[in-house]
Amino acid sequence: MTEVRNTLRFLLNDETVELGDVPATETLLDFLRLERRLSGSKEGCAEGDCGACTVLVGRLRDGELVYESVTACITFVGALDGAHVVTIEHLSTPDGPLHPVQQAMLDFHGSQCGFCTPGIVMSLYALWMREPQPSTAAVERALQGNLCRCTGYAPIVRAAQAVSGYADAGDDRLVKHREQVKARLSELHDGRRVEIGHGRDRLVVPASVDDLAEIYAAEPGATLVSGATDVGLWVTKFMRDIGPMVFIGEVPELHRIAVTGTQVTLGAGVTYTRAAPVVVAHFPQLGELWGRIGGEQVRNMGTVGGNIANGSPIGDTPPPLIALGARIVLRRGAARREVPLEDYFIAYGKQDRQPGEFVETVTIPLLPAGEHFACYKVSKRRDEDISALCGAFRIALDAGGTVEAARIAFGGMAATPKRAGAVEAALVGRPWTAASVEAAAAAFAEDYQPITDMRASAEYRLLVARNLLRRFHLETTGAPARLVREVA
Ligand code: FES
Ligand code: FES
Repeated sequence: MTEVRNTLRFLLNDETVELGDVPATETLLDFLRLERRLSGSKEGCAEGDCGACTVLVGRLRDGELVYESVTACITFVGALDGAHVVTIEHLSTPDGPLHPVQQAMLDFHGSQCGFCTPGIVMSLYALWMREPQPSTAAVERALQGNLCRCTGYAPIVRAAQAVSGYADAGDDRLVKHREQVKARLSELHDGRRVEIGHGRDRLVVPASVDDLAEIYAAEPGATLVSGATDVGLWVTKFMRDIGPMVFIGEVPELHRIAVTGTQVTLGAGVTYTRAAPVVVAHFPQLGELWGRIGGEQVRNMGTVGGNIANGSPIGDTPPPLIALGARIVLRRGAARREVPLEDYFIAYGKQDRQPGEFVETVTIPLLPAGEHFACYKVSKRRDEDISALCGAFRIALDAGGTVEAARIAFGGMAATPKRAGAVEAALVGRPWTAASVEAAAAAFAEDYQPITDMRASAEYRLLVARNLLRRFHLETTGAPARLVREVA
């Protein structure tokens, strides 16, 4: 029988917070601004895009204390049990000296109206702690999720690169106090389930994956929440009543990553940031895509498991994972079943997931030597945008250059992430030549009847799909680019 605690406990700057009464849908930003009057964190978009609300959250990971930037507007308070929340107010007192990041922003003219500035300072603070001498590219990556409407980014980048001239990152308070904070957080982790509230306004933090399985099997109408990069908007934008809420972001077993000689397995709670080194080491072709998932805060919060579980037709990871032949384990109570990822997506908003069943792991087979693989995300903006379409291509050729096998999958082309079966069939058994590619490209119209929406027209989507196949062919053969006259 799992022991239960009826309070949520976390550190807020220097203070230990213990809450026995907190609405399941309360966001961290509302808690900070409205209840604690810590109004340095701003509300811009309330959907995780602008970064004005950025704070740091420190968590124990494999015995280490890791601070990451998150957007407080879509982080639920219920997700913070056992964490250390650091807000802009922690950096300096009203009458004390500015923090080195703040001083650099001031000296390098990195702020005008100032609305974005606290969020930018927090993102740069996280960067400074892990990379005191950042390259321009590293600063740009750290700021992908921070929008500034008036200053322009050049002064901000200069400020970011100057911070170490003001102080040694090793002397920073969060770094120096790391052992004390670790000890305080360890005390908060008592291995108990957290339960607060009643009925639909109930929040639960499972103690373990077995506890989660028991809770969800008994209450399949509950909403499972991990990084909340999607679910957060159900509350802040759509005012949906989604309780009871089960916060699974800190279920330890869901954070496991296992690599064997043949496959990579990610627990469903592994964030994009934590998965990145493993994914990029084994599938370097996914490096660019991975760096274009949301902004840094979203990558720190969002999970591969969540990207799959919510069944979106435009999620970034399902197309490449389907092309790679990924499988997922679904669990209900003690029962588990494994399904190919492509079979999980049935129709728009409908997945092969029974009541009380949740995604436990995602397993990606390693690419056999000699196979070609690529993934392309097409969106209106390079950073922090949702795909208009995302295509993943994988082919195996025999010694004579004939296509032995093909797996092609797209997001944004149908109501679900979906394989291009007709295109694949048109390629298999044919030589991997421009002529075969042209013949097969016509079959995209059989596989997909995309819609026209604000991201792209149906004609554009089909044209880009055909062009991506052409691009993949050129990249895998080194053939000179050729002009194909085709207009959407
Ligand atoms: Fe815009 Fe939170 S208010 S990301
Ligand atoms: Fe005005 Fe950035 S300084 S939004």
